[in-house]
Amino acid sequence: MATRKPIVAGNWKMNKTVTEAIALVDDVKRDLANCSEVDVVFCPPFTALKAVSDAVTGTHLDLGAQNMHWEASGAYTGEISAGMLRELFCHYVILGHSERRAYFHETDEIVNKKVKAALAANLRPIVCVGELLEDRDAGRTEAVVEEQVRGSLAGLSAREWADVVIAYEPVWAIGTGRTATPEQAQEVHAFIRTVIASMADESLAQSVRIQYGGSMKPSNAPELMSQPDIDGGLIGGAALDARSFVDIVKAAM
Ligand code: 13P
Repeated sequence: MATRKPIVAGNWKMNKTVTEAIALVDDVKRDLANCSEVDVVFCPPFTALKAVSDAVTGTHLDLGAQNMHWEASGAYTGEISAGMLRELFCHYVILGHSERRAYFHETDEIVNKKVKAALAANLRPIVCVGELLEDRDAGRTEAVVEEQVRGSLAGLSAREWADVVIAYEPVWAIGTGRTATPEQAQEVHAFIRTVIASMADESLAQSVRIQYGGSMKPSNAPELMSQPDIDGGLIGGAALDARSFVDIVKAAM
C-alpha cells in the first residue's frame, strides 16, 4: 500500500489584497512554518502571488496559483502562463475548478491542455472534478466524475501522473455549508482510484493524492481526513481564516 503525504491547499478564490494576504500567511506561519508531515499550499489570487512567495521563503509552506493558460506566451489578454508562475516559485496550480468550468466555460479538453502545459513546466496540477446536485440525484455521480477524470487527465505518462493531485469537489458542497458525508466522499475517492488504475496502473492509482473539497472546516475535517482514500483538502472559505486553516492542517497530520 502506497503511503501518500497529505496535502492541504487553501483556495482563496477572489479574496485578499496583498496586505491581507501577508497578514494571513504570517498568522499561519506562526503555527506551521516547520510543518513537514503535510504539504501546505496557499493559492492566492495572481496579484498576491509574489508577496506570498516572498512570505513563505525559508519555510515548509508552498505556493500555488488558481488558474493558468496552456500556451507559453502570446496574444492572450488577461492570461498568465506556467513559466510566469514558475518564476515566482509557484509549485502547484489549481486547474478545472468547478467555478471555472461553470463561469468561464472550461471543458475537460481545455483542462487537459492546461494540465499538460503545467506538467511540462514542472508545475503540479491540482485537477478538480465533481458532480452537480442534479447529477447525484439522478445517480450519475460516477459517470460524471469518470468522464472528467478521463478527459482532464488524458494522455499522461507514468512520470507525469506522479505529479498530479486530484481534488474531488462535489459542486453542491462548495460554499454551501453542506459537506459530503465522509462515506459519500470516500466512495467517490475510491472510485477515482479505479479510474486511474484503468487509465494508468494500480500502483499509480494507489499513489496519486486525492483531496476532498467542499465546505471542509475544522469540525468536519478530522472525520473526512480519516477516510482511507482522502489525502487532504482543498479549502475555500475556511482557508481565509488562519485559525480555521491551521486546525484543518492539524487534522491532516
Ligand atoms: P468552500 O470550502 O468554501 O466550500 O470551497 C471549496 C472549494 O471550492 C475549494 O476549491
